[in-house]
Amino acid sequence: MRVGSRDLRTIWADGDAVAVIDQTRLPHALEILHWRTLDDAVAGIRNMVVRGAPLIGVAGAYGLALALRADSSDASLARAAAALLAARPTAVNLRWALERARDAVASQPASQRADIAWDEAARMADEDCATCEAIGRHGSALLRATAETRGRVDVLTHCNAGWLATVDWGTALSPVYAAHRAGIDVHVWVDETRPRNQGASLTAWELAQEGIPHTLIVDNAGGHLMQQGRVDLVLVGSDRTTATGDVCNKIGTYLKALAAHDNGVRFYAALPASTIDFRLRDGRAIPIEERGAEEVTHITGVDARGATSTVRIVTDGTVAANWAFDVTPSRLVTGLVTERGLCEASEAGIRGLFPDLVEAVA
Ligand code: MRU
Repeated sequence: MRVGSRDLRTIWADGDAVAVIDQTRLPHALEILHWRTLDDAVAGIRNMVVRGAPLIGVAGAYGLALALRADSSDASLARAAAALLAARPTAVNLRWALERARDAVASQPASQRADIAWDEAARMADEDCATCEAIGRHGSALLRATAETRGRVDVLTHCNAGWLATVDWGTALSPVYAAHRAGIDVHVWVDETRPRNQGASLTAWELAQEGIPHTLIVDNAGGHLMQQGRVDLVLVGSDRTTATGDVCNKIGTYLKALAAHDNGVRFYAALPASTIDFRLRDGRAIPIEERGAEEVTHITGVDARGATSTVRIVTDGTVAANWAFDVTPSRLVTGLVTERGLCEASEAGIRGLFPDLVEAVA
């Protein structure tokens, strides 16, 4: 997507290295990092230099290729896959991508494994762009329908499920981009998304780059706006959606779904098939990542001189807990927006769109 006058992806091959946008520096600085080793990739995923379910899948595949370049043995392959998988446990895209990369190289001669894995990662990156663009095409029909009756459409989103969370286009924001480019009057309510503020620092930044009207709100404002009739639909991404339609996403998503349900507001999750865990039927079984308490007790920003600093916002010693995701039961989800179209958030709905993928795990 557009950044100033440049068209950028979040990850790309740059010679022998993997280039990534350092998302921990946004929105204040646009910096590109280069990964050359497995350790670079593991640390980059764990520390959220790259984040967002589809993007960490592709990043994991590149990480595996970097590991194989250093050591292409079976033991190295297994070790690298385990290290990458442990970096972020909730998004199933990481497992999906690592399994796909491993299957591509497992039966190949050791001397060719690194190149094959590299090409496979590049293919996944290209496919992710096409997939997310298709999500945008399908989802923008929802926005168009509302705009045709109301003249405009107000979307509420949580966390960052834009192009920064994928290779390009995004999931929840892809329909917004498609609608805006088609001339539809769309405005986005952006949840700040504590504790890491992906809404404030990433979603608001990327919407601004595309010139899309948006308003940053505190996480607790969504319910009030829905009561006031100021939200047409909620559109979020997902880190793992079960075969029965339970949607796991950034912590706080469930509360938005409850408020939407209470106010008769439609609640959609936009996600690629690689986010569906076809082996899982109950959202309560999804592993929920717990992150460091300092993400809750401290906050980072820039001062008036542009210097970055991190400050403590609690009494020293305050005990904090930091669950990174929650699960919205399928009954609260109006529908899923996927690369193959829209479906009900249910076993039948998912099977209807993805019979081949359901069969593959049966
Ligand atoms: O912790 P993050 O920033 O990786 O969480 C990201 C989200 O929860 C996104 O909504 C999700 O990955 C879907 S992104 C296309």
